[in-house]
Amino acid sequence: MKALEVDNLKKTYRYGGKLVEAVRSVSLTLAAGEVLAFLGPNGAGKTTTIKMIAGLIRPDAGRVRIAGLDPHGNPQTLRLVGAVLEGNRNLYWRLSPEENLEYFGVLKGLNRAEVRRRGRVLLERFDLLAKRRTRVQALSRGMQQKLAIAVALIHQPKLLLLDEPTLGLDVEATQNVKALVKAIAQEGCAILLTTHQLNIAEELSDRVAIIQKGEIIASSPTRDLIRQFSGTAYTIEVEGELNASRVQALSEVGATVQAGKVIYTGSPEGLYLVLDVLNPLPLVQVKKDTPDLTEIFLKLVREESNA
Ligand SMILES: Nc1ncnc2c1ncn2[C@@H]1O[C@H](COP(=O)(O)OP(=O)(O)OP(=O)(O)O)[C@@H](O)[C@H]1O
Ligand SMILES: [Mg+2]
Repeated sequence: MKALEVDNLKKTYRYGGKLVEAVRSVSLTLAAGEVLAFLGPNGAGKTTTIKMIAGLIRPDAGRVRIAGLDPHGNPQTLRLVGAVLEGNRNLYWRLSPEENLEYFGVLKGLNRAEVRRRGRVLLERFDLLAKRRTRVQALSRGMQQKLAIAVALIHQPKLLLLDEPTLGLDVEATQNVKALVKAIAQEGCAILLTTHQLNIAEELSDRVAIIQKGEIIASSPTRDLIRQFSGTAYTIEVEGELNASRVQALSEVGATVQAGKVIYTGSPEGLYLVLDVLNPLPLVQVKKDTPDLTEIFLKLVREESNA
C-alpha cells in the first residue's frame, strides 16, 4: 500500500467575487521512505494541494488516501501525517520547545510518558536540548524551523509534508534540515517536500513532480528526468596546441574545435575515437553536458506556458 495516493484533486477558491482555480488536476503517489519534490512556480497550487492532503481544506473533487485511509472521512488518518506548512505556524511562540512537543504530542494521542520520551529523543536529535526551556520566540529562525519539524514528527507519522522547509535559513541550518530529511526518509517515512531551491530538490528527492497552473506537467524519478534532458555532448580540454592536422583528424571523427576546446556530440563509443586523435596530449578534462534540475525546470515550465 502506498503511503500517499492523490487522485485528480481539484480546488477552486472564491475570492472577492472571483473564482481562482488553484488546483485543477493533481495526482501523486508516494511510497514509504520515498522523498517527492513537489515543484512549481509561485501560485501553482502546491500549498493548496498540501493543505488538502493534510485535511485542512476540503477538495472540490478527487481523493486523498494516506496509507489507504481518507483524511476527510476519517479524522484518525491525521495521526499518520505530520505537516510543516509555510511559516512556522505549527508552534506556540510563548511556549518552550519542550512544552510545544508535549502539547502537540498529547493532541496527537500520545500519553504523557510517551510524549516525554519521544520529545527528549527529538530534542537531542535536532540539537535543541540546550534550548528546551527557552520560549520559541527567542529561538533563531533555524532553531524554530527544526523545532517545527520535530513537532511534526512527535507521533512518528508515516507521511511528512514539508512546505518550503529551508526558506530563509542560513547555509548551516539548511544543511541541517537536509540531513534530517534524508535520515527521516531512511527510517521509512514518506516525505512530500516543496522548495524553490532546486539544488535541494535535486539532492534530496527520489522523484520530482512539477505543477503549473494547478496541473502536473511532469512527474518522474529525479535521475531519469535529468538523464532524459542530458544531451550526449562532451567537451574535451587538453594541454598544448591543436595543430591543423589534428583539427582535420578531429573533424573526420565528428568533433569540432571551439575556443580551444574539442566539442563532440556523437555516441559514447565514438568518444574514444576522438580521444585517440588527441593521444598523447595531456587531458585536462572530459565533461559530459548534464543539465541540472534548475535548467530542466525552467525549460519545462516555459514550454508549458507557451503551449
Ligand atoms: N485562501 C485563498 N483564497 C483565495 N485564493 C487563494 C487562497 N489561497 C491560495 N489562493 C490562490 O490559489 C493559487 C495557488 O496558491 P498556492 O498557495 O497553492 O500556490 P503555491 O504553489 O503554494 O505558491 P508559492 O510557491 O508562492 O508558495 C494562487 O493563485 C493563490 O492566489
Ligand atoms: Mg506555497
